Amino acid sequence: MINRRQFLYLTGAGAVNFLNMNGWPLAKAAMASSEKNDFFPDVELSLTATPSEVQIFAGQPTTVWQYTGQVIKGDPTNLMHLDQSYLGPIIRVRRHQKVRIHFENNLPARSIIHWHGLHVPARMDGHPMYVISTGETFTYDFEVLNRAGTYWYHPHPHGRTGHQVYGGLAGLFLVSDDEEDKLDLPSAKLDIPLVIQDRAFNPDNQLVYLPRGMHDSMNGMLGDSICVNGRPDFKLSVSTRAYRLRILNGSNSRIYKLAWSDSTPLTVIATDGGLLEKPIEKKYVVLGPAERIELWADFSKYPIGTSLELVSKYFEAAMLEGDMGPRRGMRGGIRLPNGAPFSVFKIDVAGKAKETRLLPDKLSAIERYQPQDADNSDNPRRFSFFMRHMQGLINGRTFRMQEVADDERLRLNSTELWELANDNRSMGMMMMPMPHPVHLHGKQFQVIERSGTLHSGYVDEGWKDTVLLMPGERAKIVVNFTDYPGMFLYHCHNLEHEDMGMMRNYLVS
Ligand code: C2O
Ligand code: CU
Ligand code: CU
Repeated sequence: MINRRQFLYLTGAGAVNFLNMNGWPLAKAAMASSEKNDFFPDVELSLTATPSEVQIFAGQPTTVWQYTGQVIKGDPTNLMHLDQSYLGPIIRVRRHQKVRIHFENNLPARSIIHWHGLHVPARMDGHPMYVISTGETFTYDFEVLNRAGTYWYHPHPHGRTGHQVYGGLAGLFLVSDDEEDKLDLPSAKLDIPLVIQDRAFNPDNQLVYLPRGMHDSMNGMLGDSICVNGRPDFKLSVSTRAYRLRILNGSNSRIYKLAWSDSTPLTVIATDGGLLEKPIEKKYVVLGPAERIELWADFSKYPIGTSLELVSKYFEAAMLEGDMGPRRGMRGGIRLPNGAPFSVFKIDVAGKAKETRLLPDKLSAIERYQPQDADNSDNPRRFSFFMRHMQGLINGRTFRMQEVADDERLRLNSTELWELANDNRSMGMMMMPMPHPVHLHGKQFQVIERSGTLHSGYVDEGWKDTVLLMPGERAKIVVNFTDYPGMFLYHCHNLEHEDMGMMRNYLVS
């Protein structure tokens, strides 16, 4: 085992779908040497997924699965380690850097890493067909083409993504670029990553995953402890100045309706795919699983000693929880249903500082798509997401590893109009209404139209890779399929829905 592992590690493993009779990915070595000659990484990292323990509470440590990382080549700042957190290190790179990452799997399970939001070649995207077994290594090579922004990475083995992310496997992938540098946004200690996740812990401080039985897993995993950067009861101590808060909803299934506790509007400067054209103010922001927002948070107006909270406000999530929630609660079911209000984290205004930075009124230039820009503007591709008989379906089809249907085949370099629909009605049958955050791999898109209920909380102005569809809601998006041919995923990012098959391939050729 050790020899094989070192062998793969030293040769730099590539794709794993060439297996010999023992199931060993020997062909990787040959592929690696022939293909990697022209790739000279600026940054080379290793990420190892491994069972570990974290002291989250007093007493017994919590067993988690965790990414640990090392910089092999580059700058020590390419990896930032969070203290006492189950989260993986924060990867920080610049646009146009060439990155090589060796993913080593030390889990007692198969896994693969996906770079959520990044535009990378199909083979580097972490499709579940590339899963590797315990002791194996998969090497990723890609150039970072994305704009400056807050992206992230997480496992993507089919049927087990929810379980593995929940166990602790996730981390941020931050990209910076020259455009962003010019804005002189709050940086270093004033640039604060905030990964929000809900978890359930048992009395022995251990994570509990889907304790409620199969039927309840239709809602996905909903925990009653809100963790920020892996810590419940997270507190942020700030001084009277401006901060950049990068917020990722890293939860499996929970949706947040974020607002400041004193009703100050949120100032949003970026979303999934980076900076907006200009800052926008929102009374609240609705953030589905996998979505990101960045806030400009200026605490200079507060007296020292002020405590504030970022809260999640009440919203109507779905009939399911409204109608059946109390009865479920009696059985010890969902203690904190989607839509229930709670505090996400506390902020103490503790230090005095003179703020000299001003919020820029222009952040970036975004070329806005119109529906007419799409090659299929008269005939949008339609994808309908619903759940039936414990199966996640898109246009009535569930996930098959290599399957691509006719309406999932796209032309390279085409610009497409897609209509994404959360239908709770199909073939005359009433489906259970539930939210579906829809995600496309490998692409940033623009939301050009939307029907729905939580409207004023959506930030659709910038580039997106995930769009939340509440029950009955539809969104039209425009996507450009440039550069990379091959097979990519699109799926519901409620990770339990994804694991139940609400995921499909699209093929660009
Ligand atoms: Cu966060 Cu398939 O992705
Ligand atoms: Cu993704
Ligand atoms: Cu879903």
